[in-house]
Amino acid sequence: MLEAKDLTKKYEDGLLALDHLNFKVEPGEIFCMFGANGAGKTTAINLFLGFIPPSEGTALIEGVDVVKEPLKSKEYVSFVSENVMLYDNFTAYQNLDYFSKLAGKRNLTKSDYAQVMKQVGLQEEAYDMRTKNFSKGMRQKLGIAVAILKDAPNLILDEPTSGLDPKSGQEFLDLILELKGEGKSIFISSHDIFRAKYIADRVGFMLQGKLVMMKTQKELRGEDLNKLYVEYMQEHSFAE
Ligand SMILES: Nc1ncnc2c1ncn2[C@@H]1O[C@H](COP(=O)(O)OP(=O)(O)OP(=O)(O)O)[C@@H](O)[C@H]1O
Ligand SMILES: [Mg+2]
Repeated sequence: MLEAKDLTKKYEDGLLALDHLNFKVEPGEIFCMFGANGAGKTTAINLFLGFIPPSEGTALIEGVDVVKEPLKSKEYVSFVSENVMLYDNFTAYQNLDYFSKLAGKRNLTKSDYAQVMKQVGLQEEAYDMRTKNFSKGMRQKLGIAVAILKDAPNLILDEPTSGLDPKSGQEFLDLILELKGEGKSIFISSHDIFRAKYIADRVGFMLQGKLVMMKTQKELRGEDLNKLYVEYMQEHSFAE
C-alpha cells in the first residue's frame, strides 16, 4: 500500500510544488495521476522514493515512513523513471543481473531474464546489446523488467508510456493489469489520459501542487475524462 498524508514540498526557492497531498493506493489498485507540466507529479514521486525530504507530511510505503526508515521502505517499492537509469556499457542481460542482485534476488538465471524481457516486449536482438544503443522505449521496457524482477508489492511509474510506440503502449497496459492482478499497489503519473483511463481504478488531477479532483472508476463511468480534465484545469486556474 502507498499512502500520502498531507505530503507537502516547498523547494528552497520558496516554490510550493506540493500542497498537502492525500491519497491511498490499496493492494490490487491502480491510481493514475494527471496534471499539467510542473503540477508536482514527479515531486510527489521523488518524495516517496526519498530522493528529496518533505517540508511537511508523510509518505508511507507498506506503512513504513520513508523518512524514518528509508532503506526498509525502498525494499517494498519498484520504480520506473521516465528516463530509466541503466549501466550503458552493460548489455540488457547484464543490467538485469546487476539490478536484480542489488534488489537481493540472487537466484535468477539467464532464462529468467530472457523470460521477463519477452514479457515486456523487448525484441530478442536487444538482449545482448549494450544499453547505450537502446531507444527510449527500449530503456523503458528494460526498466519495467527490472521492476518486475524485484517483485515488490508497490510500483511507482513516472510517465511510463511516454516513449512507447502504440503497440508497446497497449502491451504495457496489459502488463500493468497483470501486476494489479497479483495484488500490487500501482501509482502512475501520466499525460496519457486516453490509455490510462482503461486501467485506472482511481484517477487524480493535479494543479499547481494540489490534488483538485480524485474519482474512482465507478464515479467516472460515462464521463469524458479528457473533457473533465480540461474543465478542471480551466475552472481551477481562474479561481486562483
Ligand atoms: N529541485 C527543484 N528545485 C526547485 N523547484 C523545483 C525542483 N524540482 C521541481 N521544481 C518545481 O516544482 C514544480 C513541480 O515540478 P514537477 O517536476 O513535480 O512537475 P510534474 O508534474 O512532474 O511535471 P511534468 O508533467 O512536466 O513532468 C515545478 O514548478 C518545478 O519547476
Ligand atoms: Mg514529471
